[in-house]
Amino acid sequence: MKKLFALLLTLAMVLSLAACGSKEEPAKTEEPAKTEEPAAESELTTATKGCLTMATNAQFPPYEYYEGDSIVGIDAEIAGAIAEKLGLELVIEDMEFDSIIEAVKTGKADIGLAGMTVTPERQESVDFTETYATGVQVIIVTEDSAITSVDDLFAEGASNVIGVQRNTTGDLYTTWDLEDAGLATIDRYSKGADAVQALKTGKVDCVVIDNEPAKAFVAEVEGLKILETEYVLEDYAGAMSKDNTALYEAVNAALQELIADGTVKTIIDSYISAQ
Ligand code: ARG
Repeated sequence: MKKLFALLLTLAMVLSLAACGSKEEPAKTEEPAKTEEPAAESELTTATKGCLTMATNAQFPPYEYYEGDSIVGIDAEIAGAIAEKLGLELVIEDMEFDSIIEAVKTGKADIGLAGMTVTPERQESVDFTETYATGVQVIIVTEDSAITSVDDLFAEGASNVIGVQRNTTGDLYTTWDLEDAGLATIDRYSKGADAVQALKTGKVDCVVIDNEPAKAFVAEVEGLKILETEYVLEDYAGAMSKDNTALYEAVNAALQELIADGTVKTIIDSYISAQ
């Protein structure tokens, strides 16, 4: 009987240590979990107890990208700082960009943090936190491109093939402004980097994407440049469920503190060199 109890206890420990979904090896047996006072438990209801689950699409440097097996970047660090303030452990779930809102809406994730632009359409599905950064939709072309400004995309008789990451604002705006007006065909890719490769190989005439990943992609592929004229200016914020007000308020308050005390700026500056 005693043995069974010990076994159950070990099992419970293993389960609780794996609770934040870390794919690490199971709990080490020397863990002194039994004798130690557990850290003050958060009262917040989250997707997984004790964890802050962040949904993202880690194809968006410097906001989120892979360094080896881990997802790093501005959003990952901001989420880490929020989680710490709330006494939660951060878990990052990588998914397609257009699955993030659904994950948040259905409570599978607590916050979507993905360089996500606040738009009125998205606001119908989720609540956005305070804005923590701004982005600009820019146009990437080949160095010898006939497209030299945003206006060229809108020129009478224009018929460009434009590469975008599916369901990003770059996709939405070019679809509404250009494809619907018969001025362009939009090629939608699951990753921004794939759209950039398509530009390199001549499958598309330009790519519309956020400025910071644009810089990162152009730095890696020769023969491309970013046009100086900007397409759209936007605000980035975290996407959260409309149904968990307590969590929304706690996360937003933590984020506001991190903005006010300069932490967010320090994080951003460490990834983006000031111009
Ligand atoms: N800012 C754009 C949007 O909200 C693109 C964001 C893409 N983010 C990402 N992690 N892939 O639609």
